[in-house]
Amino acid sequence: MIDLIFKLLRLLEPEISHVLSLKLLKLAHNIGLLRLLSLSYSANHFSEKNKFSYEKLKFNNRLGIAAGIDKNGDYIDALGALGFGFLEIGTVTPKPQLGNPKPRVFRDQKNFSVINRLGFNNKGVKYVAHNLKKRNYSGVVGANIGANKNSVGQDRINDYIICIKELHQYVDYFTINISSPNTPNLRDLHSKEYISDLLASIKHEIEALGFTGPILIKISPDEQLNVLENILQEVKRFRLDGIIATNSSTIRPNKLDKNLQNEEGGLSGKLIYKLSTDILEKVADKDLLIIGVGGVFSKEDFKEKISNGANLVQVYSGFIFKGPSLIKTILG
Ligand SMILES: Cc1cc2nc3c(=O)[nH]c(=O)nc-3n(C[C@H](O)[C@H](O)[C@H](O)COP(=O)(O)O)c2cc1C
Repeated sequence: MIDLIFKLLRLLEPEISHVLSLKLLKLAHNIGLLRLLSLSYSANHFSEKNKFSYEKLKFNNRLGIAAGIDKNGDYIDALGALGFGFLEIGTVTPKPQLGNPKPRVFRDQKNFSVINRLGFNNKGVKYVAHNLKKRNYSGVVGANIGANKNSVGQDRINDYIICIKELHQYVDYFTINISSPNTPNLRDLHSKEYISDLLASIKHEIEALGFTGPILIKISPDEQLNVLENILQEVKRFRLDGIIATNSSTIRPNKLDKNLQNEEGGLSGKLIYKLSTDILEKVADKDLLIIGVGGVFSKEDFKEKISNGANLVQVYSGFIFKGPSLIKTILG
């Protein structure tokens, strides 16, 4: 039934549909309806065969929610109750920001794909810290952190440090987002010129704070192989933990709805599955923690991400198009 409601909500403007669906999910969770509708599959999905550990972290299963679904941590308990093995909230920046003018999210219903140019709209790190602190969900939660739009030079690096300082007591891992195509020049942080300064500052800060959880770098699917290899080398040099492959892409495949071909922003969903799985395979490294994300809509997609080197898998578009039953489709 919830899937039917989700389907109807999808007929609305994408951002309105997103917020309404999450609010409804939260309401259903708060009044115990999720359980009644047996949407909360936790017990089945937390069987021994699905479990995964990385250092001190214990994941109930390998399927997580990707960054961007719950940017401010407003829906942690409700999303957690659906049976995901981990949640990633954010992207959060130090100061609140509105993001780009609307409309800024466009769905290609036929190709199960989305273009977004939200531009890190979020309520700021203090608001997110408060939500993380008051959560009841006991599974793994990571924070995906980024820089404010107006920060340049050293201020941009400081933005990541501010987020780590504010959130380190409340999260299990951090994702360093250098790959959103919607914050001007953010992807420059992939380059040799910037990545070592950024990672050196992060390493220094987590040591000073005594934060021992994983630090992951979320990469773009649009970078050259030599750029990605350099990032891998730097991740290892600074003894950080791993990579999330990938964020959305600036490619515009011919198949994409003609009306969306000229929309700026990042493409997600089925149309980037192959691209992001190819990148995953290229960066996969058995000495690192690797999360695969991009176009996962089925059990086969999930398995393929794992066989291409992912330890864990995240979904965004699949969850938006298929609703909560996707978890059962993949893990059931
Ligand atoms: C509307 C929308 C908002 C997103 N916001 C974020 C974000 O804030 N931070 C981030 O790292 N990725 C963000 N992403 C990217 C997703 O986390 C994911 O990496 C990408 O969509 C590929 O996965 P998918 O094909 O399953 O959607 C967003 C994606 C969409 C569609």
